[in-house]
Amino acid sequence: MKTQHYKLLMVSFFCLFAAKCTTTEIPLEEDPGPITTLVKYNTDVKTIIDNNCLNCHGTATPRIGGIPLFNYSQVREEAEFGTLINRMNSTINPMPQSGMLSAEKLAIIDQWKADGFLEN
Ligand code: HEC
Repeated sequence: MKTQHYKLLMVSFFCLFAAKCTTTEIPLEEDPGPITTLVKYNTDVKTIIDNNCLNCHGTATPRIGGIPLFNYSQVREEAEFGTLINRMNSTINPMPQSGMLSAEKLAIIDQWKADGFLEN
């Protein structure tokens, strides 16, 4: 093999290698697909709130989170007129404070709003 060809081969290998290394593949979160049934507090929303918010928002006079979120009217009030949905979707100041919930859970909350904050 001529030196010229050899060099070319090496350069192409290098390019290939560099390209491989610099392509950052961000794994996409699995698309849960559209929600096709009506979203309701009792069947869909309550578990999300109970499991992720009640540590701090779980009593009538929460010492930590300020607002209580342990029943339908409290959660609806905060979702409809308060900052619940904004805070759950906030990248800088999310609720829960430990980080935003999965896109799937956030989509359920959004759909609950779209469906009119149904209770059951
Ligand atoms: C680890 C404790 C903790 C958890 C868990 C938590 N919060 Fe909070 N939350 C707080 C604290 C503390 C505040 C008050 C300070 C602030 O606004 O950041 C707050 C404030 C809020 C507010 C604003 C209240 C207002 O004064 O208008 C909303 C809405 C809220 N939280 C919703 C939620 C929701 C919904 C979840 C669950 C998805 C959740 N939080 C989980 C601690 C928590």
